[in-house]
Amino acid sequence: MIIEQQHYRTVWYNKDTNTVSMINQIKLPFELEIVHFNTYQDTAEAIRNMTVRGAGAIGATAGFAMAQAFVSHKEEKEWTQARLFIEATRPTAVNLFYASEKVYNAGLESVAKALEMAQAIADEDAEACRAIGQHGNTVINDKCRILTHCNAGWLAFVDYGSALSPVYAAKDAGKEPFVYIDETRPRGQGARLTAFELHHNAVEHRIIADNAAAHYMSKGQINMVITGADRITATGDVANKIGTLEKAILARAFDIPFYVAAPFSTIDFNTEHGEQIIIEERDEEELLYHEGPNEEGIMQSIRMASPGSHGLNPAFDITPNHYITAFITEKGIIKPNELKSFKQK
Ligand code: MRU
Repeated sequence: MIIEQQHYRTVWYNKDTNTVSMINQIKLPFELEIVHFNTYQDTAEAIRNMTVRGAGAIGATAGFAMAQAFVSHKEEKEWTQARLFIEATRPTAVNLFYASEKVYNAGLESVAKALEMAQAIADEDAEACRAIGQHGNTVINDKCRILTHCNAGWLAFVDYGSALSPVYAAKDAGKEPFVYIDETRPRGQGARLTAFELHHNAVEHRIIADNAAAHYMSKGQINMVITGADRITATGDVANKIGTLEKAILARAFDIPFYVAAPFSTIDFNTEHGEQIIIEERDEEELLYHEGPNEEGIMQSIRMASPGSHGLNPAFDITPNHYITAFITEKGIIKPNELKSFKQK
């Protein structure tokens, strides 16, 4: 991703210093800050507190954190402890477990193999997302009006993104896509991160309230929905940011195609059905307070809910496979019931 003439990945690793560096997504869109972590514990904490977030990005980060543990610790029990520590950060996105397991197994052979594997996972993530863009572009017509939820752009991966990669590819192909961005309460990944990305890529867009999509669909102003995914089961049920299910039901009601864009690393072939997925419950403060910079640019939190009331804050919901038109993957556009047959390809 290019921001002001400079190419950035969301997260990267420096072998010389055993440091993981990343864009601090808590400060976006107000400040572009790069932060560096020297221990696997600090890198894991960055996943937990959402300095880095989004399925592919936390997968790559978990892989790098696991590699950091192999570089700085010598005993197998410390590596196992590190893996458990990293995997305890966030439960829903499967990429995190995919990466920690692969780097762990590689590290049991040698530290060099752990480093190689962590880098390969990050590079494969970027390449898969690039290919998702090429395949997704084929379903986007000129002047297509697309609704997206949350942020499944390059900030949610190592580069390119999943749901936004087809939008970028369509734009590069000379089309003029228009994107409606759900603000995505409670943390506002749509209003903050997706809007930041599209603004910097000169893609025309508007942020809409989370409850405005039906209005625009009913007026025929949305041609398709593209979301990302945090975990896809073998049968094609999808865990994604809270509110995705609602959009899928709406899309069905208005006969609008509903696409889910994701790399194969997000498919959990060991899980058959959506109800088996653990849904992360996050702190109620994310719901009850809004965060933003004051006039001096210092981040502030203000309460916007009635004092004394508590909230509930599930981070994800499950969209059953029958609402999904198709998956946009690096292997092509695939119907939910075809996923299993693509596993080996
Ligand atoms: O809680 P987050 O921000 O890590 O949630 C992940 C997401 O951004 C979305 O669910 C996204 O659509 C899938 S991740 C590519």
